[in-house]
Amino acid sequence: MRVVTIGTGYVGINTAVALSYVGHSVVGVDVDEAKVALLKSRRAPISETGLDELLAIDDRISFTSDLGSCIGDADVVFIAVGTPSAANGEADISYVLSAADEIGALLTPTHDVTIVVKSTVPVGVNAMIARQIRGAVGARGGDVSHLHFASNPEFLREGCALHDTFYPDRFVIGTEDEKAYTMLCELFEPILMQTFEPPQAVESPEQRTLPQCLHTDQVSAEMVKYASNVFLALKISYANEIAGLCEKIGANMSDVSRGMGMDKRIAPAFLRSGLGWGGSCFPKDSKALLHMAQDYSYPMPIVTAAVEVNSRQKDRLILKLLDHLHVLVGQRIAVLGLSFKPRTDDVRNSPSVDVADILVQRGARVRVHDPKGLENARHIYAENGFEFFDTAEEAVRGVDAIVIATEWDDYKSLDWAEIRRNMAGSLLLDARNLLRGTGVEQLFDYCGL
Ligand code: UDX
Ligand code: UDX
Repeated sequence: MRVVTIGTGYVGINTAVALSYVGHSVVGVDVDEAKVALLKSRRAPISETGLDELLAIDDRISFTSDLGSCIGDADVVFIAVGTPSAANGEADISYVLSAADEIGALLTPTHDVTIVVKSTVPVGVNAMIARQIRGAVGARGGDVSHLHFASNPEFLREGCALHDTFYPDRFVIGTEDEKAYTMLCELFEPILMQTFEPPQAVESPEQRTLPQCLHTDQVSAEMVKYASNVFLALKISYANEIAGLCEKIGANMSDVSRGMGMDKRIAPAFLRSGLGWGGSCFPKDSKALLHMAQDYSYPMPIVTAAVEVNSRQKDRLILKLLDHLHVLVGQRIAVLGLSFKPRTDDVRNSPSVDVADILVQRGARVRVHDPKGLENARHIYAENGFEFFDTAEEAVRGVDAIVIATEWDDYKSLDWAEIRRNMAGSLLLDARNLLRGTGVEQLFDYCGL
């Protein structure tokens, strides 16, 4: 089939590359000319396992910033632009609406076309977009009977986004339009039936199972996405709340979460305690869900508490530093890890950056390092008052305290005895509990979170 994806960010590019790999002809469209130029030269704008390799061998995919040049041929058009948080917490759907505007202005359908919203949008936005596009196409005399609409939320995790696209656990298609449903089943058949040859660069799981497929109405599909992301966020917040109590009563939180996870009903994932959740999804989706609920005068105390606990983790970290250092002004503090989680170069909405910011505001001299996200951080946070270092060893030399803010494996293999010798102080605050039990407790004044 012929596919167009509008937006080549995390969701758009991975969807485009995977669909092209399994046999479709795909055009990735983006308003960002620099990104399009990079993609045309077969370089990935983001760091994702397998993306460079698949882009390099892919001859069915092309890129443009001119939607008009490709939309006429498309069978399926994905809207995969960002939906960041507006100042009041509401999801900002302006990019989605402008993509819909463009489709409405450029598409004169001569065959069936299904327009699919992959962006995470508040309930009702899919229906609104369908009305907007139908209205615009109809007003120009276009045949609206060829237009079909569906919601197809994305559950991919940054860092392993292609893996999650090729081997998803589940697939949600929200539409009341039978044609849209059939077209999407045909489009995704190689993935739904797992009939494609796994790409070398994106290995299949040991046990390759068929994804579960759920067909719902549009509003329910929109809700599945919010409900899932926020559930994972509150699972982590619960682990963090329990971890705080464990610390007070002297229980070992790694054992407690391991024990909890052994119960199949609870499951081990998303029980890692630490500095809390960040990234492009959990913070904005929890805020957007609360905002939606407010519109219906429906309090959501569990979600509200999860957000509060997440924010409290940063305060707990600062209080621990104060307990040990007493004053922060003038202290040299190394923050190791800036990305919102390991194995990604994405440093946006990162709790680690929030902590580094608070430390700068409190007068500390903040030295930062990240294995993959340093270039992005240098660019985005140039004005934040951090000192950037290319290696962790340089960042920690001569400091009064070290904070491990993101649990990169790279930090496990550092020579911690040597680091301790080259430090001015002795505090190692392991905010991700990465090194607990590895012997660093004997070298440092060590505490976890
Ligand atoms: C996606 C979603 O679509 C978001 O709703 C979801 O919650 C998380 O995943 P993501 O792919 O992470 O967002 O967004 P981002 O990496 O910011 O990329 C969006 C892309 O869309 C950018 O490349 C941007 O240039 C492009 N864009 C934006 C357009 O092409 N047209 C626009 O009008 C606006
Ligand atoms: C998430 C969802 O997992 C994905 O399904 C969704 O569609 C997009 O949002 P992502 O934001 O890439 O993916 O990251 P994820 O791996 O889910 O981690 C989110 C945050 O939770 C990170 O800041 C991570 O450090 C934190 N986390 C995760 C914990 O603090 N503890 C855990 O046990 C797991």
